[in-house]
Amino acid sequence: MSVKPEHTVRRNGIYYTPAPLAKLLIEGSIRESNVLILDPACGEGALLKAAATKCQQLARSQDQNSEFHGCDKLKHNGFPNGIPNSHFIQTDFLRHQASRLFNVIVMNPPFLANARIAEKDRRDYRTRFAQICDLEMKADIWAYFLLNSVSHLRPGGGIGAILPWSFLQAEYAANIRKWLAQHFRSIKVLVLTDDHFQHTTKRVLLVWLEGYGESTSTIELGFSEGLSHDCRYEQMDVDIWQSKCLFRRFGDVAGILNECLSKHGFIRFGDIADVKIGIVTGANKYFILPTHSEMCHQCPKTTLVPIITSSKSLKKLTVDDTGEHSLLLKIPAPAPPCFTSYLRKGRRKEIHKRSHSIRREPWYRIDVGRMPDAFFHYRVSLIPFLALNTGGFQSTNSIHRVYFRAANANVQRWAQISLLSTIGQLSLEASSKVYGNGILKVEPSSLNESIVYFSQSPVPDKIYRLISSLILSGRKAEAVAKATQLLREQAGLPKRLLEKAEAAVKKFRQHRL
Ligand SMILES: C[S@@+](CC[C@H](N)C(=O)[O-])C[C@H]1O[C@@H](n2cnc3c(N)ncnc32)[C@H](O)[C@@H]1O
Repeated sequence: MSVKPEHTVRRNGIYYTPAPLAKLLIEGSIRESNVLILDPACGEGALLKAAATKCQQLARSQDQNSEFHGCDKLKHNGFPNGIPNSHFIQTDFLRHQASRLFNVIVMNPPFLANARIAEKDRRDYRTRFAQICDLEMKADIWAYFLLNSVSHLRPGGGIGAILPWSFLQAEYAANIRKWLAQHFRSIKVLVLTDDHFQHTTKRVLLVWLEGYGESTSTIELGFSEGLSHDCRYEQMDVDIWQSKCLFRRFGDVAGILNECLSKHGFIRFGDIADVKIGIVTGANKYFILPTHSEMCHQCPKTTLVPIITSSKSLKKLTVDDTGEHSLLLKIPAPAPPCFTSYLRKGRRKEIHKRSHSIRREPWYRIDVGRMPDAFFHYRVSLIPFLALNTGGFQSTNSIHRVYFRAANANVQRWAQISLLSTIGQLSLEASSKVYGNGILKVEPSSLNESIVYFSQSPVPDKIYRLISSLILSGRKAEAVAKATQLLREQAGLPKRLLEKAEAAVKKFRQHRL
């Protein structure tokens, strides 16, 4: 295996497929011995090697005329060594026009998240693939690889791909899944719940698409911890496939949440609140200072904004002024003389040249925005919750800011209780993404989509305080149980529904942690 410098690996998303994983992908991709096969990002050829072995097995003693074509932006050791009838082209696949069509395409596209693709390339890809489907500007590179590979595929051909979980989880991916359902006869997905790559914990799944040119008749989804097909595949409805299909696996999640919405007075959180990411300074160490720092004593109070910088500040149902916080420098423009030397220091450190600074005018004037009514976790391993901002803080972008729209104190408290309850946790698990290390990533859109009980009646103060103190003392599971019980009584939730919801939450957590 070639060892490439760390920056080359990261810039090109190089993670070679281990042989057992390659074998599993190929098992489902090749059914006949004579194939014309392409790997558009072949690296050292792990997938093509597995494909060649499979073709040999299928051919037995007969001649086999398969051709194995690899494309890669870079040269890697190992390919095409030992693969008969192999061909290599060194080029950027996303700029590569099809000169011939293949009947099988296998791929493990570069692990390159959206943020690592140059903006001009993203714009260019978006425009080029717009006719197929709109990916907005948020797609990771796998999406463009998948779409571009289709233009290299013969009618009737198939694709086997190793893709990140975002294929099922990302919002933009719904458009791709929809398009696939219109253009492939069968779709099969195996979600791998363990880590299978060296040097990354990124979770992947295997996708097999067959019968290019026909619309879908079967969609199947299976989950496997190890590397095997020995799991139960579930048939999936095309409507679910085009929406948030992954969650179908965990009991009838959509059914549970819909029942709460239609029969028990729940609404979407986004109906009563706006969720915004926290303040992005681009240089927290420079703009955010400890309260005791000398600089904070020198500048006018009006230029210091109390701010929380970590979700560790979310310790109970309120964030009050007894908690730890820092101070954000809200430097006005033109800057008063007390900032002159501090700004000089910033320039010396080239803070003014940073990507966020160059988008501001002048570079040091941070858009603080309105004070939020509440905060919510952005990344969390277990039990996210909503904490009211009673201390008058702002937050950095590691914590979401929540602004209620015409929601009085009772409505706000019921939102807190219901998000903490099993139902709220289920809707958050169902609409959020998961990082490789099992951390739940609650995007503003996930929080907007989650469901809360809407009521103007007061939340019993004693129970509210009890729940808050349970969270504070680290007994979050008990807090969830209390919140769920309170909600059950208030909203008349049937026991059956709560049991189903609890089982579904448990499954989500088993698969992500
Ligand atoms: C995740 S690795 C997979 C390699 C190989 N298919 C395997 O399964 O082991 C992704 C590969 O994509 C290549 N790559 C990155 N950007 C590319 C591009 N624009 N066009 C073609 N190959 C690219 C990298 O050099 C790397 O070899």
